[in-house]
Parts: sequence; C-alpha cells; structure tokens
Amino acid sequence: MFKFILFAAALVTLHGSNADNVNRFTRQGNFNKYYVYTRENSRQFYELLDTQASIYASPIVLARDTVVIIHGHHASAFNSLNPTVKDALLVANDINIIVVDWSVYASQSYSNAVGAVPSIAMFLATLITNLVGNSRVALNRLHIVGFNLGAHVAGFTGRTLGGGVARITGLDPSKSQWGTNSRRLNASDASYVEVIHTDGNGWQANGLGTAIGHVDFFPNGGGNQPGCFLSNRCSHNRAWELFAASLIHDHLVANRCDTNLQLSMNTCRGYTLKMGNNKYIKLGSGIFRVNTKSTFPY
Ligand SMILES: *[C@@H]1O[C@H](CO)[C@@H](O)[C@H](O)[C@H]1NC(C)=O
Repeated sequence: MFKFILFAAALVTLHGSNADNVNRFTRQGNFNKYYVYTRENSRQFYELLDTQASIYASPIVLARDTVVIIHGHHASAFNSLNPTVKDALLVANDINIIVVDWSVYASQSYSNAVGAVPSIAMFLATLITNLVGNSRVALNRLHIVGFNLGAHVAGFTGRTLGGGVARITGLDPSKSQWGTNSRRLNASDASYVEVIHTDGNGWQANGLGTAIGHVDFFPNGGGNQPGCFLSNRCSHNRAWELFAASLIHDHLVANRCDTNLQLSMNTCRGYTLKMGNNKYIKLGSGIFRVNTKSTFPY
C-alpha cells in the first residue's frame, strides 16, 4: 500500500510535458520490430523478439557475419532501402541480416521521428547485447547500415555498444536537426565509419553533406546525382541504390581528395578506395569522390 502511494505521488509529480517526454523516450524503441533473413530464409523472415527463447530459435549463427539494416523517415522494413539492400547482401554474402522496423515513429512527423532516434537505438543496442551474450553475434563481425535518420540510429547504437562495432555505414545521414547536433553519427561510433553522401547540395538537401566518418564518399560530388534531374529525393535514395550495387559488383572505385575544392572541381587524384561493399577492414581516411552512371549498376 505504502509503495503504491509513493508510486502514485511520483506519477503526479512527474505529470506534465516533461514526464511525457521521459516516458516516450523510454518507450519508443519498445515498438521496434526485428526481421531476420539468411540465405536459407531470404524470402520468409523470422521475427526476432528480444527474449532468450526467440534468440535461441532464430536462424542467427555466430559463424556468420551480421548486418543490421535501419530505414529512415517515412519508411518501414518493407520499402525504401531494406528489400533491395537485403537481397543484394545475400547474393554476395552468407550472413545474418537483421532488418529493424521502427515505422511506428518513422511514419510520424519528422520532429517526432528525430525525437525517437535515441530510444530506437537503445532498444536495438540491448537486443544486440543479448545476441552477443547468447553467442549469436560478435561485435567485431557486425556491420550496421542506416539510411537517412537510420544513419543516426546506427550512430547512437554503436555509441551505446561502446564503439566496438566493426563497421557502421551511414547512407546520406539526415541533415535537418542534425547539422549542429553533437549526437549525430560520428567516427567514434564504430571501429570503421563509412558515410556515403548523395544529397548534400542546396537548401533542400536531405543529407548532411559534411564529412563525419573515417571515410566520407561523395559520389559525383555529393549532390545532384546523374539521372535525378535535381530531384532531392532521387539523389537522397541514390545512397542506398549505390550501396546495393556495390554489394554485388564492388566496382565503385573512388579517389581521395586533398581538399573540398578538388572534390567539387572533380580533380581528386589521391589513392583509391572502393565505396560501399561489406568489408569489415577498409584502409583509408578522408574524403573521396567517385563518378557514377545514372542507372543500375551505376
Ligand atoms: C562523437 O560524439 C560524441 C558525443 O555524442 C563525442 O563524445 C565524441 O567525442 C564524438 N567523436 C568525434 C570523433 O567527433
């Protein structure tokens, strides 16, 4: 009884918008869904719950690398990058894939979706910790891929896991509300952080456009992608289209740029590095440019 009174009092004290934010902050990730795909179940996913029984029953095995895919605003596990990137990954690699669905919040206003990012990531980090604890996943064989706001979810997740994740790939990380946000994806979030910038030009750009990883690739200069006819959305999506193509062909050879001027003038002549793919150790740092075609496989 006494406990109940204390609890009720706490509820009354906490009541108000601040408490709502705290509650929402802790709950948002509770709506995450996790869909597992492997070569054996490339069409029919296994829905993974964050319980030991579900982890044991899942097709995830430690003998394989694991890739986590996180969508962005106005998307789900079944559209945008997920089906394309998942299929491309399985063509090239015998791996575990976990597709995160946070569409309950991603379908809301952009601000609500941004506000959900930390909680989405915390729940994902807890799941990954449990997969590691049950010997299903190793952090040094884990690659987290996020598009749009999903790139910042990937960053938060890596940070929560202590930076020990092998690789994070940020596919055109969102700009709005992240330009000066110190909690955006950065190079401390994984052993290797690769960022692909495709829509960073102009005031309507969806992408951050600034170098934030160990390696930042700027295909065709980082904006106005070929065949996109100045459509920001088209250029933004090109980030995961290029990434998916690179998983199958590993053909996007970029040159290192010494300066941003070289980048924009298309005069980068430094050493080469392949953009994208699913390699866990990639040697290089700095900004790189690769010029692509307008249609698959670019
Ligand atoms: C990354 O961001 C965190 C805070 O979110 C900060 O502590 C860390 O120093 C940053 N690392 C880099 C390389 O910017």
